[in-house]
Amino acid sequence: MFRIVSSNQFLPISCLLVLTFCSLAIGENINIHDRIESLLSKMTLAEKVGQMIQINGYDGKIPKDLKQRLREGGIGSILNEVNPEINLEMQRIAVEESRLGIPLIIGRDVIHGFRTIFPIPLGQAATWDPELVRACAGIAAEEAASVGIDWTFAPMMDIARDPRWGRIAEGFGEDPYLASVLAAAMVRGLQGEDLSAPNTIAACAKHFAGYGAAEGGRDYNTVYIPEGLLRDVYLPPFRAAVDAGVATVMASFNEINGVPSSGNAFLLRQVLRKEWGFQGFVVSDWGSMSEMMNHGFCSDLKDVAQKSIQAGVDMEMVSTAYADYLEDLVNSGAVPQELVDDAVRNILRVKFQLGLFDKPSPYSLKGIHKPSQKALDLAKRAALESVVLLKNEGNLLPLSRKIRSIAVIGPLADEPYEVLGTWSLDGKAEDTITPLQAVKTFLGESADIKYTGGLPYTRSRDESGFSPAVLAAEESDAVLLFVGEESALSGEGHSRAYLNLPGAQEKLINTLAATGKPIALVVMAGRPLTIGEISRKVQAVLYAWHPGTMTGPALVDLIFGIESPSGKLPVTFPKTAGQIPVYYNHKNTGRPPQEGAFTLIDDIPVHAFQHSLGNTSHYLDIGYLPLYPFGFGLSYTRFKYANIKLSTNNIKIGDNIRVSVDLINVGAMEAEEVAQLYIRDLVASITRPVRELKGFQRIRLKPGEKKTVTFDLPSQDLGFHNTDMEYTVEPGKFHLWVGGDSQSVLMTEFELVE
Ligand code: NOJ
Repeated sequence: MFRIVSSNQFLPISCLLVLTFCSLAIGENINIHDRIESLLSKMTLAEKVGQMIQINGYDGKIPKDLKQRLREGGIGSILNEVNPEINLEMQRIAVEESRLGIPLIIGRDVIHGFRTIFPIPLGQAATWDPELVRACAGIAAEEAASVGIDWTFAPMMDIARDPRWGRIAEGFGEDPYLASVLAAAMVRGLQGEDLSAPNTIAACAKHFAGYGAAEGGRDYNTVYIPEGLLRDVYLPPFRAAVDAGVATVMASFNEINGVPSSGNAFLLRQVLRKEWGFQGFVVSDWGSMSEMMNHGFCSDLKDVAQKSIQAGVDMEMVSTAYADYLEDLVNSGAVPQELVDDAVRNILRVKFQLGLFDKPSPYSLKGIHKPSQKALDLAKRAALESVVLLKNEGNLLPLSRKIRSIAVIGPLADEPYEVLGTWSLDGKAEDTITPLQAVKTFLGESADIKYTGGLPYTRSRDESGFSPAVLAAEESDAVLLFVGEESALSGEGHSRAYLNLPGAQEKLINTLAATGKPIALVVMAGRPLTIGEISRKVQAVLYAWHPGTMTGPALVDLIFGIESPSGKLPVTFPKTAGQIPVYYNHKNTGRPPQEGAFTLIDDIPVHAFQHSLGNTSHYLDIGYLPLYPFGFGLSYTRFKYANIKLSTNNIKIGDNIRVSVDLINVGAMEAEEVAQLYIRDLVASITRPVRELKGFQRIRLKPGEKKTVTFDLPSQDLGFHNTDMEYTVEPGKFHLWVGGDSQSVLMTEFELVE
């Protein structure tokens, strides 16, 4: 199969290609190894190093010196060129005018969609729907491939326990199990069944490793993670991506335990290659190699090149250590030739798997001019499943479809760009349907719709729009209030120390609440925000992340009850930033707190005698519970869990445990629920978290309908890394819960026996 349907655009080599295609059809993957070795044996050292260099594109241009470098085989990869004509031409030069005709691999950050923008990854995580995540990634790959992109730097699977970190938006949240399942799903969606198919692209598991644990949530900051925690919490999603066949891995910016990832042989050689058998290639992050000088790990660029190749970075993104020094280092004997050969093998292997040699890259490209209906339908579905209902006092939602008058207010009510979220490089605001547009389409002439922004943008402190907003609210039966963060307030380098709604939005909410009109608040943001106070002022809260191109239609379906909200939080919501880190799978401590069993700040008498008796691990001012727990999300219906059963209460290590539970829709609306299975290992040689997610299922039930949900839990999944860093499953007692969030109470117990 050809990657891109061949046209007669570049006839000179098309005859050659026919021969290649025929031979490929017979041998396919079997001879990739032989083809790599044959090619490698013909390559000069300079050409080998060339494969290890990735440069940034020139924004729709091919300058003369770039042409020359391509002809010399001096570049292996380009990133950030999305003009199909330019991509075609660069590939043509690399294939037709270089000595060995090695195609480029062209990369781009296709993080949550290319032209069609799906919810930000954190929003996709809130769907708890791997099949949906896979399908969205499939569309993203197809659209990106249509302009000549072969490779994306996604999925990001950094575990994030700190919502101050702006890049929490780009990942799947705080839990290693959920992130592993979704990372694997996204890899499968991007790469498809066949990496060489015309509509698939190579994925990249990033950022390896520990990037989400930046101290204080400040991007690029120092990371310390004990090896056991690294292996139990931060590495599993990467392992899942490798097991799903991810073609590439990106080394992260951060240092981890004193060693930057780009110079970290433990991560890149020991764990990734030796323990996990990764066969693809490792790319640095943008300048992460040269930044090892700033870290104080390398003295100069030559040292950078030496330490990176020794650690196992195969391709350098943008900085020039390999280009400037790798040949010298090999010629002087400081770097063994085999290290370079292995890196080139890894890169060529992916290029062969992508089929780039056999259909020497795009010989005709369809391009993309607008999202397809299929893409839009999927984007709507993803947005719809990603929204989490946090509050619904007096069942304000869904609003009646017969509502007579409605005020649509807020800086994100009619903002087509800001709801696309971070890393929506190729998405277009003109494709977005905003909430206001969708409300108008839905209600048509049947209701009086009063729109006013209230604030011009989310950070604004200009209160001149408050009076018209109050007037609109007063003249309406209900208020839809769209607030949150603009796209650029999360994402790379966009960490925040305050997690409240920015600008005068809280004041706007308070002002509108004073009208006494019922308010449904829709929050769109790249991270959990500390919305405890303001959510008390409104009747309903929908947390919608940044939902993407189909923001409006998805929200309208939820607001008016065409569908029930079914998203569940992939991350714990703190009451205040001072509570961070707060995550559900924490340890118990020696003095675990219990609600109501500790003193709060206002209860402490003046001149209190302070002693150390009876204290527990909590804050005087906020206690210990989060605002909303991991896994939480309400519905318009009610689900009941009952009758939890295990196949046996004594399980032999090595066997599976079958868990079943009855799930009943006891409400009045058809809806979906995400049933979640948690365990706790009560006593172990290394203390274990109070809960760990081990399974989940999304289930649709009609009113009154009951389903028995079963989980097959391999006992092998109940282990952890012991003090010798061996994965071990220890005998002993476990608690097991199934329910609708991480604080669910339906519990049973079992014992693992040898
Ligand atoms: C830096 C980011 O950390 C990474 O995620 C991204 O893929 C590269 N830049 C390329 O844009």
